[in-house]
Amino acid sequence: MRRPMVAGNWKMHGSRAANSALLTDLELRVKADWPIDVAVFAPFVYLPDAVRMLTDSSIAVGAQNVCAETSGAFTGEVAAAMLKDIGCSHVLIGHSERRAWYHEDDALIARKIIVALATGLTPILCVGETLQEREAEKTEAVIARQIDAVLKTNGAPAFSRLIVAYEPVWAIGTGRTATPDQAQAVHQFIRGRISGQDANIGGQVRLLYGGSVKAGNAADLFSMPDVDGGLVGGASLNAEEFADICAAAAARH
Ligand code: 13P
Repeated sequence: MRRPMVAGNWKMHGSRAANSALLTDLELRVKADWPIDVAVFAPFVYLPDAVRMLTDSSIAVGAQNVCAETSGAFTGEVAAAMLKDIGCSHVLIGHSERRAWYHEDDALIARKIIVALATGLTPILCVGETLQEREAEKTEAVIARQIDAVLKTNGAPAFSRLIVAYEPVWAIGTGRTATPDQAQAVHQFIRGRISGQDANIGGQVRLLYGGSVKAGNAADLFSMPDVDGGLVGGASLNAEEFADICAAAAARH
């Protein structure tokens, strides 16, 4: 059985004081004995605070991005080893906002996966189609291209050490969630793609859904057989709502 996971992507929100208060609240609400993994992805500068505050908790800390290079003259970038050094365990790679605004392509994302895995970080590989691509019935072609880029560069075994998040771009921050059936269809496709290379790894890989996940829709999404949890943006900025989403994942069976 795949262990459910709920990940909170704070994006570029908050302040030192607000984010610390959020973590304090979250620690009280997320129960350590829930049979799920929980992680928060804070902005880089707040990661040391988050690691310190969550040291004795069951909540893991991750970064929202990482450099594809290991060290050197890359002004403004942050290396995987630095993230590991300060206590991060996870990293988001290939978020649609990185793909769209910072022109990250499949080849760069595949290289970031290599570096993250080599450093011992657990990547959450984000994939997803735009509205235009969905309307043109290209969803499967886009997802296949994004998954295959990592399969080709890293091989199927990499998928035994990473998590995939399906985040349809049209559902991110729009309040327009994919229906459970829409999410399930793409998750099944992703699992099938990986299973085509290695059935065992395909069966084990955790697939999170992201895009307007809220306390009110989480249980329905998580009831689908291939939806193993969620990658939550806006709702992760509210401790009560995020904890309710975690509770929905904990109740998944
Ligand atoms: P929202 O939950 O705000 O739609 O964001 C989803 C997301 O992009 C998480 O990475």
